[in-house]
Amino acid sequence: MKSNITVVILAAGLGTRMKSRKAKVLHEAGGDTLLNHVIRAACEIALPEEIVVVVGHQAAAVSESVRVAGIRFAEQAEQKGTGHALLCAKEVIGTTDGDLLILNGDGPLLRPSTLRDLIELRKTRQIGGAIVTTELHDPTGYGRIVRDENGLVAAIVEHKSASEDQLKIREINPGVYCFDAGLFWAHIGEVRPNNSAREYYLTDMIEIIRRHGNSVAPLLVRDETELLGINTRVELAAADKILRGRKVEQLMLSGVTIEQPESVTIDVHVEVGQDSVIEANVQLRGNSYVGSNVRIGTGSVLRSCHVGDDATVLPYVVAEASMIGSGASVGPFARLRMNAEAGADTHIGNFVELKKTKLGAGSKASHLAYLGDSTIGSNVNVGAGTITCNYDGEKKHQTTIGDDVFVGSNSTLVAPLRVDAGAYIAAGSVITKNVESDALAIGRAYQTEKPGWAKRRRENRKKREAEVRT
Ligand code: UD1
Ligand code: CA
Repeated sequence: MKSNITVVILAAGLGTRMKSRKAKVLHEAGGDTLLNHVIRAACEIALPEEIVVVVGHQAAAVSESVRVAGIRFAEQAEQKGTGHALLCAKEVIGTTDGDLLILNGDGPLLRPSTLRDLIELRKTRQIGGAIVTTELHDPTGYGRIVRDENGLVAAIVEHKSASEDQLKIREINPGVYCFDAGLFWAHIGEVRPNNSAREYYLTDMIEIIRRHGNSVAPLLVRDETELLGINTRVELAAADKILRGRKVEQLMLSGVTIEQPESVTIDVHVEVGQDSVIEANVQLRGNSYVGSNVRIGTGSVLRSCHVGDDATVLPYVVAEASMIGSGASVGPFARLRMNAEAGADTHIGNFVELKKTKLGAGSKASHLAYLGDSTIGSNVNVGAGTITCNYDGEKKHQTTIGDDVFVGSNSTLVAPLRVDAGAYIAAGSVITKNVESDALAIGRAYQTEKPGWAKRRRENRKKREAEVRT
């Protein structure tokens, strides 16, 4: 599909009002950066090669943050305004024809359907440009839309330059433009920094295009939440709320039950399968994948995890970069981290921690255990209180446990260690040497028994007490 579209996304500014050391477009809402949200919308209507991001402030960090391969970058070393940013883009793109879409990098709520409508409007009107507008109750800070007698856009006047009358205009410029690319590139060089900020304003292109006998039509969008531009952290929080609302709505409509949806935090890249149930106050972060018919218990926080079908995550499980196999049951109060893998149908109970550990299918660690740097086979029973001593103060060591092993409660497994298939570790053992297949290993002090000792002790005490009384 050759769309003949060029998209330029403006992301070179610092964003002073964020009061941050980090460039504004790198701030996150809904589980991704502001810029990535804009790029995702652009990718719905253009190929990655057709998209150019103008970077400046923290250019390297901003370009590295982009998730889509194939997107190009233009550098605007000094931020001399949005018009100047387009001149920098031109140096990378050259001139193009067809449609030129320009988007602000700080508008993460924009829907692709609006971009399609905008392109369609310019096409049907056969006009030099079309821009999105919206009406705000409080238009402070935004460029105001001045219309001509035909309802077309006569000019965009920046807040700083607006007259008293123009400041009363509630129709504003959210920063979403579509131009005839050939026309735009031919005249972008005519923008002058003749304003109090001494900046090259992209918005001056409206009047320039009109001067050349063409015109710009407005696309008035009623849902102003889609067009919120993020300038402060208050607006960042508002965008986060809207993006999360959209995400849970999309999941619910696709067949996921979400209890108290306003209480959960689900990042935009998370996938959840049909008939899964997400209880209140759950957080699903990063690019987590949750299969179908899974229950995620209240208070659980999963970051970049994979949860197989039919698994149950009980309340208050904290898991990061880990896998929970299909049919497994994890929690309550369990912790999985650093590529932990709980295989299919495993049971991980309360206060069990898995770090860089693979637990084979059907194995159980039901209570109070630390399993680190271990490879554990299938159908293994890990008793309560089992600890793998993986760290000697200098280095980490591996523990390998074969299939069908029984590890008695309160065992201390000192790594490096191998316990081969079918072996049995007696409860309370400290195991320091490898255990052969099918063997019983006991590593504890032997029990000795002194017959009648307790009884004699009681009687002696009674005798002493009687002597004291007389
Ligand atoms: C701009 C518009 C204004 C509109 C508002 C919507 C202009 C002159 N004004 O104002 O009409 O109502 O957006 O949010 O365009 N940027 C660069 N290089 C620069 C300057 C900015 O890439 O030299 C980028 C920023 O990183 C940001 C975007 O352009 O992503 C908008 O910049 P910002 O400074 O926020 O513009 P506003 O003053 O809000
Ligand atoms: Ca802005």
